[in-house]
Amino acid sequence: MDHILINSHNILRWAVLLFGLYAITKSARGLFLKQSYSSNHNLSATLFVASVHLQILIGLLLYVARGWANNFSKMGEIMGDSTLRFWTVEHIFGMLFAAVLVQVGRTKSKKANQDAKKHRSSLVFYTLGFILIIAMIPWPFRGEIARSLWP
Ligand code: HEM
Repeated sequence: MDHILINSHNILRWAVLLFGLYAITKSARGLFLKQSYSSNHNLSATLFVASVHLQILIGLLLYVARGWANNFSKMGEIMGDSTLRFWTVEHIFGMLFAAVLVQVGRTKSKKANQDAKKHRSSLVFYTLGFILIIAMIPWPFRGEIARSLWP
């Protein structure tokens, strides 16, 4: 069970990044080329938001399955160790905050009554969320927390 979750979480990262880039590009083009907000813009946003939500769900399951959630009782020790701190605190809260940014962008974009505002909210919040996601991924060059690019 554990390895199915970690492998899915590893692979789904690429979907999140791909759909993120797609949604950001669509909203940037929409804003700067003054396009009307089309079903394609909506689809690109839906794919990004859905992939982030699914990744968060799998991440939460992994967090419990791998015992990281039990670390809260020994916070002093955790905060002094950069690897334990990354997995217990930084990865989860960084990614949850990124998901909130993406969701705020989606909600603001849906509520906006002008196409330019829809594109701008998407562009700003999806880009901020995307940058945070990139920063919180355990890339292979990241020393002790490094993980592979593919399972
Ligand atoms: C968009 C959001 C996220 C992305 C892109 C992402 C990405 C990744 C990647 C690439 C790995 C390494 C997988 C491997 O070892 O093959 C990983 C591991 C992990 N992630 Fe995430 N993650 C996200 C959100 C979350 C969240 C919200 C949580 C917790 C609630 C979480 C918990 C974990 C855990 C527990 C591991 C495995 C750590 C271990 O080896 O025990 N992830 N994540």
